Amino acid sequence: MKTRVSLNVNGESRDLLVPVHKTLLEVLREDLGLIGTKHGCELGECGTCTVLVDGEPTLSCLALPAALEGSAVTTVEGMARGGELHDSPAPPGAFDAHQARSSRCLST
Ligand code: FES
Repeated sequence: MKTRVSLNVNGESRDLLVPVHKTLLEVLREDLGLIGTKHGCELGECGTCTVLVDGEPTLSCLALPAALEGSAVTTVEGMARGGELHDSPAPPGAFDAHQARSSRCLST
């Protein structure tokens, strides 16, 4: 079963038709080609999949796009300008709670 979801991803409106069970991480990587968001544990433990949803750090491996209708999603690609990271829209310390615990998580 699929559902329609409208998201603003990195400042761009995206209307998506996604399976209801597909995670935000899968949609970002597989459907939108935003591979800067990394697969890690997929258990909500490592934090390598963290994105901002309406400005709040969110583990995309645990988030379902169907529950995020109308939200603004910012990935690491949305924080880059000309291939370089610029001043992050993330609040100071936003990613501290979701730091990777393993270098293995950063390799794919
Ligand atoms: S992949 Fe999401 S917390 Fe590890």
